[in-house]
Amino acid sequence: MDNLLFLEKERKGPVGLIRLNRPNVLNALNRQLISEIVQTFEEYDRDEEIRVIVLTGNGRAFAAGADIEEMADEDAVGMELLNQFADWDRITAVKKPIIAAVNGFALGGGFELALACDLLFASETAKFGFPEVNLGVMPGAGGTQRLTKAAGKTKALEMIWSGEMISAEEALRLNLINRVIAPELLLEETLAFAGKIAEKAPLAVRLIKESVYKALDISIYEGMQFERKNFYLLFASEDQKEGMQAFMEKRKPVFKGK
Ligand code: CAA
Repeated sequence: MDNLLFLEKERKGPVGLIRLNRPNVLNALNRQLISEIVQTFEEYDRDEEIRVIVLTGNGRAFAAGADIEEMADEDAVGMELLNQFADWDRITAVKKPIIAAVNGFALGGGFELALACDLLFASETAKFGFPEVNLGVMPGAGGTQRLTKAAGKTKALEMIWSGEMISAEEALRLNLINRVIAPELLLEETLAFAGKIAEKAPLAVRLIKESVYKALDISIYEGMQFERKNFYLLFASEDQKEGMQAFMEKRKPVFKGK
């Protein structure tokens, strides 16, 4: 699938880079763009040479939300029948790590997209917020759920009720993001970190992701049973043998993802 209208993709060794590319409208997420993002995530997820995905935006925004012009005249039945947010569930099913390099505004659906990524690295100039309440609506692609899990009820309500933006520093304090980076270094540092994860045993990376997300949904006891099965499962991999052998031979392991 290479007839991409609104995003650019580029391979950087084992890292698959995706750049949202509607800078004139601050990368507003119309349906076509969401569909291109999801399809590219899935394509990279299947691609044996790609181990980590990085998502960023061209211009001064990561994404300033769902495309308001596209939505303005919708009605409820049409929305229900179209069920456009179902596409977002497919992001949750991606097994490889996805890192957001948030270069500017991450608002509404743009913030939801960033929160749907596994790690968030942000530029010092990034701004996060849920302005939907100013439009007479509310977050619809996971915002009330993911922000609440990440920052807690009181901060989530404050942000979503007020519609106000917060800085990258504030987002860091709220545990919403991993790092704040100078704008000119954002992509370089994010790709460098992605490169580090890409060197780890891919099956372990994959099952770590699955296990950590489990923790958000189930009890500690059940989560520990789940984790244990994944731990045992890794002993069926060639990479477990290689990783432990390499340690004993005092050399760097060569992982194959098998
Ligand atoms: N949808 C469509 N177009 C958008 C957009 C959006 N979400 N955000 C920005 N744009 C467009 C603007 O209309 C403008 O286009 P024109 O040049 O053709 O007028 C262009 O991008 C540049 O934007 P501004 O001139 O407004 O730039 P600014 O620097 O003055 O302001 C901003 C930046 C504060 C981010 C402002 O653009 C803004 O408030 N954007 C809307 C943010 C928003 O409300 N997002 C939530 C959308 S709803 C949603 O996301 C629902 C959901 O849960 C999925």
